[in-house]
Parts: sequence; C-alpha cells; structure tokens
Amino acid sequence: MEHSLSKVVTVIVILVVLTVINVCGYQSYNILYISSVASPSHFLWSEQLSKIIARAGHNVTLLNIFKEGRQENLHFMKLNEVDEYLALDDPIDYLELHRLSQFELQASFLDLEITVCHLALTSNQFVRLMGYPKKFKFDLIIHDHAAGPCLLLLMERFNHPPLIMASASDVLQSTEHFFGSPMFPGLIPNQFTDLSITMGYIERVYNFIITFLESMSRKYHINPRIDQIVKNYYPNMSSVSHLEMDTAVVLLNSIAILSPPEPKLWRVINVGGLHIETPRPRQGKSYLMGLSRNASFEKCVYVSFGSNIQIMSVENPFAQSLIAVARQLPSVMFLWKINQLDGVVPENVFIADWFPQNDILGSGKIDAFVTHGGLLSVQEAAWYGVPMLGIPNYGDQYQNVRRIVRLGAGKRLNLEDVSPEVFKEHLMELIHEERLVH
Ligand SMILES: *[C@@H]1O[C@H](CO)[C@@H](O)[C@H](O)[C@H]1NC(C)=O
Ligand SMILES: *[C@@H]1O[C@H](CO)[C@@H](O)[C@H](O)[C@H]1NC(C)=O
Ligand SMILES: *[C@@H]1O[C@H](CO)[C@@H](O)[C@H](O)[C@H]1NC(C)=O
Repeated sequence: MEHSLSKVVTVIVILVVLTVINVCGYQSYNILYISSVASPSHFLWSEQLSKIIARAGHNVTLLNIFKEGRQENLHFMKLNEVDEYLALDDPIDYLELHRLSQFELQASFLDLEITVCHLALTSNQFVRLMGYPKKFKFDLIIHDHAAGPCLLLLMERFNHPPLIMASASDVLQSTEHFFGSPMFPGLIPNQFTDLSITMGYIERVYNFIITFLESMSRKYHINPRIDQIVKNYYPNMSSVSHLEMDTAVVLLNSIAILSPPEPKLWRVINVGGLHIETPRPRQGKSYLMGLSRNASFEKCVYVSFGSNIQIMSVENPFAQSLIAVARQLPSVMFLWKINQLDGVVPENVFIADWFPQNDILGSGKIDAFVTHGGLLSVQEAAWYGVPMLGIPNYGDQYQNVRRIVRLGAGKRLNLEDVSPEVFKEHLMELIHEERLVH
C-alpha cells in the first residue's frame, strides 16, 4: 500500500515539474500578419500559414480582406468596406481577363493596389489596430508583399519589429528590391508573359526590356504614389516603400521541382506546398461515391478554374465544349467547380461551387484535372500525381502551365483552341496515356 502510494506521489511530482518547465520555458509570441491582397487564393494561403503558427501556440492577428472572427490563438481582422467595394464591380468573366494584354493586366493590378490602399487605410479595423494601446507589442510582422508596401506603416506604428515577407506567389523577382539581390531576365521569363521556359535570343531581349521597365515603374512610379497616399492619411509616417528593406527573410510559395532553376539568396526560403493538408483518401472516395449515388463510372475528371474567375453561362464556349464532350463520354464522371450555371447539364456532370479539392485530388480516383493553371491548384495536383490539362487564362498561369508540361505532368490547351473535338482528344490522351496513368 505504502509502496504504490509513493509511486503515485512520484508520478504527480513528475507531472508538476513537467508542467512548470512547460509554462516557464515556453514563450508565446504576438504576431501580426498583414494579408491585404484582393485575391481569395492569397488569403487562403495566409490563413493556412497563420493556422500553423497559431497551432504552435503563438497569438496571431490576421489583418485581411475576407474574414472576421476568431479561432484559438488566431484573430481575423477584416478590413471591412474593401471586399464590399470591390464586389460592386461586375464579376469578372474569364474571357475578359484572357483578352487583356500583359500591360493592361499589370495596369489593372496597379489600380487595384491603389484602390485597396485607400480603402484599407480608412477601414474601421485598420483604424482600430492603429489605436491599440501604446504599450502593445508585436514581436513579429508578416506581410504578403504581393499587396505592395501600403500597410507597412504598421511597422512604424509598432516600433519596427522584425519583418518577414511571405506570399502565395512564387515569383522570386518580386523580392529583388528588398535585398538588392540580382535579377536574371536572361534566364527567367517574366511572370506575366507566355515566353517559353528556354527562351531564344529575341525572347531574352524582350524579357530583359519588360523586366527592366517593370522594376523601374515600381521604383519611380508606383512606390512614390503609395507613399503619397499614406502621407495624406498619416503625415508623420516615413516612406512605406523604404520599410520593405527591413525585410529579414522571405517565405516564398515555391517548389524547386516546379520552378526553373534560379540563383537565390539564403534569405529567401522556399515553403511551397504548405497549404496542402494531409489528404483523407477514404473521405475523398466516399464523397465521390455519395455524389454519384454509387453509380460506377470508369473514369473521373475534375474541372476547376479557381476562385478568381467565373463562367457565367452554358453559352460560354468552354462550357459548351465540356457539356458536348460529357454527352459523348457517358462512362466518365465530370466534377465541375462553378459558382452558378444557367442551363441543363448531362447526368454525368456534377456541379458545385465548392468541392473538397484536397480530399478528392488525394483520393487516387481522379484521372485528370482540368485547371486554369493557378499556382495553388497546380502544386496540389503535382503533389498527388494527378495529370493536368492546363487551360491558362491570365497572369502567371501561362508560366505555371508551361512548367507542368516541361515536367511531363500534364498538357496544355489554349483557350482559343477549345472545341469539343480538341478538348475530347486532349482529355482522352491524358486519361489513357500509360506514362501519366497512376
Ligand atoms: C492576441 O491578439 C489579439 C488581437 O490582436 C489581442 O487583442 C490580444 O490582446 C493578444 N493577446 C495577447 C496575450 O497579447
Ligand atoms: C506630427 O508631427 C508634428 C510635428 O512633429 C506634431 O506637431 C503632430 O502632433 C504630429 N501629428 C501626429 C498625428 O502625430
Ligand atoms: C452507397 O453505398 C453505401 C455502401 O455500399 C451505402 O451505405 C450508401 O447508403 C449508398 N448511397 C446511396 C446514395 O445509395
């Protein structure tokens, strides 16, 4: 009796000691994450990184455009009015974006950066954050640099804590002006071009010129404008674009095998794929079974054009081709992520505005993924070994699709060339090609 009592006492003492060590030796940091890119996919990535940090016990404040509320250790602060204001615009039809030239697209991104800067600076939650008690301390600021430097004035407000840049984009060139690191326009095609990965001489010259112009326009045109806007609201702040140079480390959503080889500084760390959650193949399979009401299809194709673009109606040429091909291939199940669609679709086409993408791509049941070539989707499909048919629309999607073709992980189809015949032919090749079938 006495013997077992001493055992219990020993265990209790050990537990108490462990708890004390845990409490004293454990430090929780206060972290401000500024994620003000007006794109749902950038937000999803920031949210994922925030969750990882919050799970490690740190207190994360995520200033963003899309979400309000709180979870354990994670406080969402929504820059209200921004999302609402942008939603006033007509939803973007994917064909419209596709028609924009590279320069028009960049000009529209610049407009967006400036609009969001104005709106964010006057938003309630931002004003609330600026009004935090003088003694309140953030130990670290993380900033999605794809949004530009506007909200970096929070650095000055909170007395210059260490700064990490982190972005859902994988463009190394966009980090060049933080460290003065060299660029390689002779090697790396500009992110918004459709230049081949192994550029020829003329392509290199062209790429050099646009990369140079872009860099100059950032430095002498865009950044001074952003500084001016910030000064209008906060006259005592110093230049926000100079604050970018306080960057200690950059976390880039880049996976070495997907990107062309590129020399980089040790201060740039690839963390590509961190948004991919552990797959739950059984859930994925039973989701598909439930959806198809246990009907057995021979093959399954997943179609998603991401969160930024919308296809409005069955009149759309891509929609028409997909529907025509689905009619010809009744033994193939089509999952089609789309917000809304007016019109009827064949029985083997399953429409939803959301699919558990991670689970179904990881279920081993998807034979082909028709994608716009958004970086996050491409990384997921490459990770799970699902062959892709890339139909790029705008921005970095051309380069992303070129990279999967180079890897042998998929094929490319241009939007202009989509017709029922060509679409079917590409799809059949993907589904049946031995090299790609897993
Ligand atoms: C955690 O962050 C929230 C939101 O910024 C803040 O209100 C709270 O005071 C922080 N907690 C601690 C312990 O600092
Ligand atoms: C800005 O600086 C001036 C002069 O240093 C000072 O009088 C003024 O109160 C400051 N304004 C704010 C908003 O801090
Ligand atoms: C599909 O089959 C499973 C098990 O075989 C069954 O539990 C489920 O109810 C079926 N679902 C439908 C919609 O018929």
